[in-house]
Amino acid sequence: MSHTNSKDAFRLPTFRIDSDGGLSPEALRSWQGAGCLVIENFCDERARRELIRAADSIVAQFDMTDRDAIFSTQTHEHARNKYFETSGDKIRCFFEENALNQNGNLLVPKEQSINKIGHALHDLHPVFERFSYQPRIARLMQELGIDDPRLLQSMFIFKQPGIGGEVNWHQDGSFLYTSPPSVTGLWFALEDATLENGCLWALPGQHTRGLRSRFLRVNGELIMEQLSAPPNFDEDQGVPLEVPAGSLIIIHGALPHYSAPNRSQKSRYAYTLHAISGTAVYPEDNWLQRGQDLPLRRLTPISH
Ligand code: FE2
Repeated sequence: MSHTNSKDAFRLPTFRIDSDGGLSPEALRSWQGAGCLVIENFCDERARRELIRAADSIVAQFDMTDRDAIFSTQTHEHARNKYFETSGDKIRCFFEENALNQNGNLLVPKEQSINKIGHALHDLHPVFERFSYQPRIARLMQELGIDDPRLLQSMFIFKQPGIGGEVNWHQDGSFLYTSPPSVTGLWFALEDATLENGCLWALPGQHTRGLRSRFLRVNGELIMEQLSAPPNFDEDQGVPLEVPAGSLIIIHGALPHYSAPNRSQKSRYAYTLHAISGTAVYPEDNWLQRGQDLPLRRLTPISH
């Protein structure tokens, strides 16, 4: 397989799940081999609309004086920003890098200015909570063999038209490190994700090479530390994960992935969850920390 922008590029196979979240043996084999799994038709239009409406309403209520919210993965400037560092147990909006001018004034309408909302939607907002703790997701985590799964992080990602920022190649395990490794990402396409509006790209199979780096707190500062003997990744082997709205992409914590900027006029909304194992050690020097009043919850069905 080779890196190409062609519509004929290599595609991962797609799968469906049972109504209760069960996976076929073929799907499990594909997951183990590739470190990612594409499931079509996971969420219906009603669920997608409900999540989008909830996110829109958070943005509408967002206090525009929170100018610390500019988020960029191109530099790690934001890492020193308390607004980001203390968002692990809150609902906060982060601006697209190109949404504001140097004086901090909006260059686009407010509703098109937000890069993402993070990072505890799943525990603090009833709409996101209901979606995130649904039994099918709990079952899916069980199927993937995550011992005592707990939801650590949630994000609503806008990838705004025209200014949606690039997310450079990374592994989620660098940011949400556990020992042993356990983080697993769930990426729900709330709109079609295409080459034009900045779909995910991945390096299927390269999750077996180990972690390249770790984002951690050293002397009060968050830094990206290269791990000893870091693996090489063949980024020219990238595969675009173009998916229709409603699809779920499951991402292994060591799978390198990326998304291009969105220069199109279509947004590319997604909701993401990251689960870890409750039996793994979660280090105190990870960036994401939660207060005692909001402990991680087991991913099991809740009553509605
Ligand atoms: Fe990621």
